[in-house]
Amino acid sequence: MSVSYDPARVTVVDHPLVQHKLSILRDEKTGTKQFRDLVSELAVFEGYEATRDLPLEDVQVTTPIREATCKQLAGRKLAIVPILRAGLGMVDGLLELIPAARVGHIGMYRDEVTHEPHEYYCKLPQDVDERICLLVDPMLATGGSATAALEYLRKQGVSDIRLLCIVAAPEGIKAVQDADPNVKIFACAIDEGLNENAYIVPGLGDAGDRIFGTL
Ligand code: URA
Repeated sequence: MSVSYDPARVTVVDHPLVQHKLSILRDEKTGTKQFRDLVSELAVFEGYEATRDLPLEDVQVTTPIREATCKQLAGRKLAIVPILRAGLGMVDGLLELIPAARVGHIGMYRDEVTHEPHEYYCKLPQDVDERICLLVDPMLATGGSATAALEYLRKQGVSDIRLLCIVAAPEGIKAVQDADPNVKIFACAIDEGLNENAYIVPGLGDAGDRIFGTL
């Protein structure tokens, strides 16, 4: 049975370099170091796309040649919020792109029987409600953790949330969109669906285990 979600509210970051890197990431033979590096590199591409609409303002710069009117970022600052544990793998890549961003953490674990998310640790920048939040988790599977994290951030007053994942399942996208009509979703690929253990198919296996080498 196909799952329908709103494609207008999902951006697929399908740059050729992204597709190439993602194929290596999916390969079961790819080892921990390369896997970790690729997750970080893919996060840079996603961050680039997810920040495309940031507002700019004019700034006067004196180059070695003459004065010039240039651009600088204006408006709200950013927070990167990884969903623990796998989301941590995307933080360094995003910080390369946005070095001044603050980093919050949301800890969720998934009950292995019910697949329900449980919150066990949350620490966010004190002014998180004034920031654009990049909520990051490489795998958007059932959407359970993402919807719980979104609900938590909304309760803290965050209005602009962009969910960055590397691989998404249609079921997860639909669950997130149903729960939060305003979130913007970015993914490098949308896969076929979920298997009976709520793993994404074809996916890449357990992202956290592959990032941290705990297989
Ligand atoms: N989490 C993962 O790491 N992989 C999946 O396929 C689903 C959830």
